[in-house]
Amino acid sequence: MSVLIGGGTGFVGRHLSKMLREKGHRVIVVSRTAGKEKLTWDDVKKNGLPSGCTAVVNLAGRLILEPFKRLDEKYLKELHDSRIDTSKLLVSAITSANVPPKVFVTISGVGYYPPSPTATYTEDGVNGSDWLAKLAKEWEAAGVLPEHVTTRRVIVRSGVVLGADGGMIKTLLPVPAAVYLPMLQLGSGKQWFPWIHVKDIAGIITHAIEKEHMKGVLNGVAPHAINNKDFTEAFNKAFKKMSYGPMFVPAFTLNMVYGSEMAKIVLEGQKVVPERTLEAGYEYFYPSINDSMKEISAKF
Ligand SMILES: NC(=O)c1ccc[n+]([C@@H]2O[C@H](COP(=O)([O-])OP(=O)(O)OC[C@H]3O[C@@H](n4cnc5c(N)ncnc54)[C@H](OP(=O)(O)O)[C@@H]3O)[C@@H](O)[C@H]2O)c1
Repeated sequence: MSVLIGGGTGFVGRHLSKMLREKGHRVIVVSRTAGKEKLTWDDVKKNGLPSGCTAVVNLAGRLILEPFKRLDEKYLKELHDSRIDTSKLLVSAITSANVPPKVFVTISGVGYYPPSPTATYTEDGVNGSDWLAKLAKEWEAAGVLPEHVTTRRVIVRSGVVLGADGGMIKTLLPVPAAVYLPMLQLGSGKQWFPWIHVKDIAGIITHAIEKEHMKGVLNGVAPHAINNKDFTEAFNKAFKKMSYGPMFVPAFTLNMVYGSEMAKIVLEGQKVVPERTLEAGYEYFYPSINDSMKEISAKF
């Protein structure tokens, strides 16, 4: 396959590119900047898909959870445009291709579902009503292909992606010395923490590309649902930190750092299960949080 990956320079994109190349596929990345084996979004807008392109993936999107970043209009627009405009551009390129690619995979997030302490969401779960849920809905809708286009469409709704070289862990451990600090539970710690190892989010996208029967939504989460307290314990155990059992980061601190709308992302959570992902025959590299954190901590 010849796979075009929008936003392929990022954390998930680098792991996906590596996995695809190891399996013998060709990868071309679409980025805001030009470079080797890279196209810019302008190149795609002007010239369409590169010839021979058989799969398209969109991972582009401005980082959502940033400390001390307020959800003002400018930031919301960036979060929106980096996802929706890139998806629409790829839809347009796929629609006008002489030979349409076999498959179009887009990523979105489990923020699609409303946070709840009691509900369990399969891929058929309801859409929430907060800004994150609305963004996810619009993001997914932006990737809809016209009916006459034969390309398969797969949406992967990702949980928090865990890996040593990007995403949440890199934000938590920005400098090597941070490895020595213990992780504290956030708020009550009872909120669900939908997570996935980076090798598995790359694996699910690869599975979606390669398996011709796959279409529709796949939850990109690990099969073992955990809460924030479970994650904190697994993290501290893997990094061999002392247990700070009763200590936690209070909600008001997180509200101060992230603003109340953003802090909700870590203070509330969804129990998400990968029902269709498992039915589709995907086999996880890291189904358990302890194995996942062990692999990650070994890299520090
Ligand atoms: N990591 C997670 O925990 C997680 C969870 C759920 C969903 N997701 C989604 O999965 C996708 C990939 O995540 P990731 O962790 O790999 O993110 P990442 O490391 O931040 O990479 C995303 C890529 O998007 C491109 N990008 C950033 N800002 C952009 C903008 N304003 N306009 C156009 N492109 C822009 C960048 O590519 P260039 O600089 O080359 O243009 C960047 O490499 C994102 O859409 C993210 O929202 C991630």
